[in-house]
Amino acid sequence: MQKIHRKIHAWYQSCGRHTLPWRNTDDPYYIYLSEVMLQQTQVKTVLDRYYFPFIERFPTLKALGEAKLDEVLKMWEGLGYYNRARNLHSTAALVSELPREIDALIQLPGIGKNTAHAVAAFAFRQPVPIMEANVKRILCRLYRLETPKEKELWEYAYRLVDRENPFDYNQAMMDIGATICLPKNAQCDLCPLESICQGKVAPQRYPIKKKRTVPTREQHIVIHSYDGRLALSQRSGKFLHGLWGFESMEVPPCAAEYLGEVSHIYTHFKLNCKVYLYYESAPEKTDYFTPDEIRELAISKVDEKILKVLDREVERLW
Ligand code: ADE
Repeated sequence: MQKIHRKIHAWYQSCGRHTLPWRNTDDPYYIYLSEVMLQQTQVKTVLDRYYFPFIERFPTLKALGEAKLDEVLKMWEGLGYYNRARNLHSTAALVSELPREIDALIQLPGIGKNTAHAVAAFAFRQPVPIMEANVKRILCRLYRLETPKEKELWEYAYRLVDRENPFDYNQAMMDIGATICLPKNAQCDLCPLESICQGKVAPQRYPIKKKRTVPTREQHIVIHSYDGRLALSQRSGKFLHGLWGFESMEVPPCAAEYLGEVSHIYTHFKLNCKVYLYYESAPEKTDYFTPDEIRELAISKVDEKILKVLDREVERLW
């Protein structure tokens, strides 16, 4: 195993993504934040648009805990999976600093087994493996696992981890997954794990991908307009909770002008929205906003797309 660890570290030294900012800080809060942002999200997106502005706005765990949820959601706008932002905020309000131990980390809102391991390894240099999508793929190929259970993957991960240098080892594993052990086009001849990889003859066979078809939901979105302003309300249900949005209905509205259609794919369903504009002669809703005011609200990707349709179709409104 030592030999493989040496190969992984040598590879990381020459090919690893050393400049990623969350790899160049000791602050557990920054590391924790990066791990949460990087769930289901590409490094480039986090780096280009979210990590630095968020840290500038909320430079410490304390500052985040004291902020209003609305402000946090605004900084998260467009990143999706808004529960992540709500949980970050709850955790920050709950603790003055992050605990070092996995068992204690897992008790905090939104910190699951994967994030707890990542924070423990990267912020506190605990000798534990991480389990991110790229690492899973590597393990599946190394041990020819077609449809492994989580428990099995963790067992392999614990066997393979370099306890002497878990920080570099885990970062390297993610980089190998992201640049070499690719889903479709694995570059086995460049891989430091090649000598022990059981799946290298046919890497694309591991893991077997489940074909998922997600259901489609149809909604009708009515933009109420009064006196050059638009009605939005803050969502209170489970879905997109806390974000502002336009009225949505199950059935088409009467007497509203059809503007077009937008769609968005979420984890468990695809949303198709038909968008309508309704000019009110007297205000029927509670809150109306000018375009400048809307820019200050946290709104979802779908509502952003809806605003684009509106902009395109009704420039005369403004
Ligand atoms: N995805 C999750 N954690 C990451 C990290 N530390 N570096 C790059 N990508 C990641």
